[in-house]
Amino acid sequence: MSLIAITGAKSGIGAATAAMLRAGGHAVIGIDIGGTDITADLSQADGRVQAVAAVLDRCAGKLDGLVLCAGLGPTAKPHMSIVAVNYFGAVAMLDGLRGALERGSAPAAVVVSSVSSVQMTWEANPIGRALEAGDEARIAEVLAAAGERAGQMAYAGTKNALTVAVRRRAVEWGKAGVRLNTVAPGAVETPLLQAGLADPVYGKAIRDFVAPIGRRARPDEIASVIAFLLGQGASYVHGTQVYVDGGVDALARPAIF
Ligand SMILES: NC(=O)c1ccc[n+]([C@@H]2O[C@H](COP(=O)([O-])OP(=O)(O)OC[C@H]3O[C@@H](n4cnc5c(N)ncnc54)[C@H](O)[C@@H]3O)[C@@H](O)[C@H]2O)c1
Repeated sequence: MSLIAITGAKSGIGAATAAMLRAGGHAVIGIDIGGTDITADLSQADGRVQAVAAVLDRCAGKLDGLVLCAGLGPTAKPHMSIVAVNYFGAVAMLDGLRGALERGSAPAAVVVSSVSSVQMTWEANPIGRALEAGDEARIAEVLAAAGERAGQMAYAGTKNALTVAVRRRAVEWGKAGVRLNTVAPGAVETPLLQAGLADPVYGKAIRDFVAPIGRRARPDEIASVIAFLLGQGASYVHGTQVYVDGGVDALARPAIF
C-alpha cells in the first residue's frame, strides 16, 4: 500500500483518481478548496504553504505518490486565478513535497497538464518566461492586452509552462530517485469542461471539435493512466508527457513528437 496526495481530489479527474487508487488499496490524502481531507486555497501563497504543511503533517514527512489535478479552465475569472492555481499552485506543491517524496517508497509524481500545452511552443508562449520568473505584474499586463481570448491564453500558457517546469526538473528529481511525469488530457467530461461548453466565447469551438477517437474522455480514463504512471509498471518512465487525448495531438502535430 502506498500513501498518495492528490490536489483537486474533490471533483473530476482528481476525484476519479482518488477513487481508483483507494479501490486499489492505496491511502489517499485529498487536497481541495473544500470537501476532502485537507482544505486549502492553492490560488493563494499562504494557502499553498498551509497545504504543504498539512500534507507533511498527515504523511509524517514520507509520501509515496503525488498527483496534481487542481486547476481552473479558460472560463474562470479573474484570469489571474487561472495563473495562480494552474502554474504557481502546482509548482509550489511539487517543490514543497519533493523532500517527502524522496523519503517515500518507489516514489513518483504525476502532474495534470493538458493537450492545450502544445497549442503553442515554449518560444511563442506569451507568458512562459514571466511565469518562470514569478513576474505576476508582467503576466497581468500581457493578459490584459489579450482581450476576450485572455482566458484561453492564460490556460494554454500556464499548461505549456507547467509541462516545461516538470521537464526542467527531470534531471534533479531523477537523481533524487523520484519519477516525475505529466499527463496531457484532451476533452474530459468534468465540471471544468461543462463550464467551457456553456461559455459564449469558447462553447461552440469545444462542441465542434471532435477527437479522432470520436468522443470525449471519462475521468476514469485519465485516472487509469495516472495510476499506471505512479506504479511500478512505469518504473523507467520519467520526465515525459503522456497524451490521453483520443488522438488530438496526433491530429494537430503528426510530425512533431
Ligand atoms: N476536463 C478537461 O477537459 C481537461 C482537459 C485537460 C486538462 N484538464 C486538467 O485536469 C485537471 C482537473 O480538472 P477537471 O477537468 O477534473 O476539473 P474539475 O473542475 O472537475 O476539478 C478541478 C478541481 O480543482 C480544484 N481547485 C480549483 N481551484 C482550486 C484552488 N484554488 N485550490 C484548491 N483546489 C482548487 C476544484 O475545487 C476541483 O475539485 C485540471 O488541471 C485541468 O486543467 C482537464
